[in-house]
Amino acid sequence: MVIVGPVTPGQLSLFLGIIPVITSWIYAEILVHRKNSIPKSRHSDVSLVELGEATVQEDDRAVLLEGGGLQSASPRARTSSTSSPIVRFLMMDESFLIDNRLTLRAISEFGVLLSYYYVCDRTDFFASSTKNYNRDLFLFLYFLLIIVSAITSFTIHNDRSPFSGKPILYLNRHQTEEWKGWMQVLFLMYHYFAATEIYNAIRVFIAAYVWMTGFGNFSYYYVRKDFSLARFAQMMWRLNFLVIFCCIVLNNSYMLYYICPMHTLFTLLVYGALGILNKYNEIGAVMAAKFIACFLVVILMWEIPGVFEFVWSPFTFFLGYTDPAKPNASRLHEWHFRSGLDRYIWIVGMLYAYYHPTVERWMEKLEEAEVKRRLSIKTAVTLISLMVGYLWFEYIYKLDKLTYNKYHPYSSWIPITVYICLRNVTQHFRCYSLTLFAWLGKITLETYISQIHIWLRSGIPDGQPKFLLSLIPNYPMLNFMLTTSIYVAISYRLFDLTNTLKTAFVPTKDNKRLLYNVVTGVAICSILYSLASVFLQVPRMLV
Ligand SMILES: *[C@@H]1O[C@H](CO)[C@@H](O)[C@H](O)[C@H]1NC(C)=O
Ligand SMILES: *[C@@H]1O[C@H](CO)[C@@H](O)[C@H](O)[C@H]1NC(C)=O
Repeated sequence: MVIVGPVTPGQLSLFLGIIPVITSWIYAEILVHRKNSIPKSRHSDVSLVELGEATVQEDDRAVLLEGGGLQSASPRARTSSTSSPIVRFLMMDESFLIDNRLTLRAISEFGVLLSYYYVCDRTDFFASSTKNYNRDLFLFLYFLLIIVSAITSFTIHNDRSPFSGKPILYLNRHQTEEWKGWMQVLFLMYHYFAATEIYNAIRVFIAAYVWMTGFGNFSYYYVRKDFSLARFAQMMWRLNFLVIFCCIVLNNSYMLYYICPMHTLFTLLVYGALGILNKYNEIGAVMAAKFIACFLVVILMWEIPGVFEFVWSPFTFFLGYTDPAKPNASRLHEWHFRSGLDRYIWIVGMLYAYYHPTVERWMEKLEEAEVKRRLSIKTAVTLISLMVGYLWFEYIYKLDKLTYNKYHPYSSWIPITVYICLRNVTQHFRCYSLTLFAWLGKITLETYISQIHIWLRSGIPDGQPKFLLSLIPNYPMLNFMLTTSIYVAISYRLFDLTNTLKTAFVPTKDNKRLLYNVVTGVAICSILYSLASVFLQVPRMLV
């Protein structure tokens, strides 16, 4: 097995970190197994021992009822819980290991999945093959998936709105997730088959994701008004946890996964727009001023030459990217290009979210109007949408890639709006969704990141994924099926693990513990990193 490139300190420190965790997880499993396999005496002979056990159990239950939770269920745990978690971990405190067995298991599994990434993408253990596009096959697979999904997972939702008790009309969760799902499938297949002819459509899909970031986050913060540190940390964790570890394990730049920095930026902008002076969010004029301010910030940053480079050049160390295939481009070019394409659409998403209640009320009224009026309005909306969509398709979509990219920031709202109108035009249509696509829509971030390494293949640090991972050489379709199954399954596990670990490390209502976790995390990382750097120096000094 040939390893591509030298081992980096980051990789070695992760390896050093994961070994004790896996060891203690296995130890914890053994402890639990031993505890459960202690033979129990029979019920008939009541002995003193058993009475004693019974009281201990009562005791445990009382602790549980007091709200101590599972963490402190055993008397032993209570006595030692005074020392900090990291000390107890290092001391191999048995009750601590047993209590946190599931977290240890999650970290171990995460480590194993990341080593699979490494083996697939950075070693020649598996073969690779080249991409090849065939429009017939591409569309066949996509429509096949739609048909299968329609047959097996067509769902009619009868949820009611929590506010009015009426059926949810507009941009409900099922719909947005389904929308993400079917865009994601095309996006991924575009990469797998190198379907360059749908490049412009892919740009629109990415704009739609950014639109949803604006829409979803605006609705959340506007309604819940939850600007807490914990919520913020959870959001950042969700967006960046997996990608950070991928960068370390595969020695890649953050910008290789440009979706992550882009969504992080726009999420932060939405957070900032609503969080600053959030006491006055109810006042219309303040919101109008905020929207205008957002537009001004974007115009300043992206439309005026030089400002972007000036603002972002201090951050080049983590936002810079050089494609090995084009070593002469500017380090910030990728960031400028990617973030610039969707610079306005997040504000459009926020605007739609702001007017969402108004439109919803208006639509409710429309549903109650008499048949003739309702039908004529709906027909008009449909016809206008179709007309606008057609014009956009004819005059903008069909442009060549480079010209299209110039118009994209100003025109991507058109197809998105057309889609939203058509998707909601009838009450029935609104309630339908394809659960399979909605399921895929939930794990878009994981499928996006994983594809580069365990479905496609780049082979070198920072390389664009130009090849396909080939587990069954010479059988492209069978290989497609096998790698896709493994890839989707792993993406789903990573989605789950990200959430499990988020719950374990980012407490919801305890800022002190959150801060403690951050400090401990930074300390552990620094120690591991220094150790790894020293280890890597040793062979060099010996030579
Ligand atoms: C239409 O559907 C989309 C998602 O498919 C949803 O996000 C949006 O809120 C809906 N809008 C209207 C006006 O029904
Ligand atoms: C905010 O945006 C991010 C990025 O798209 C998304 O993952 C997250 O779910 C959004 N938050 C809410 C509350 O919709």
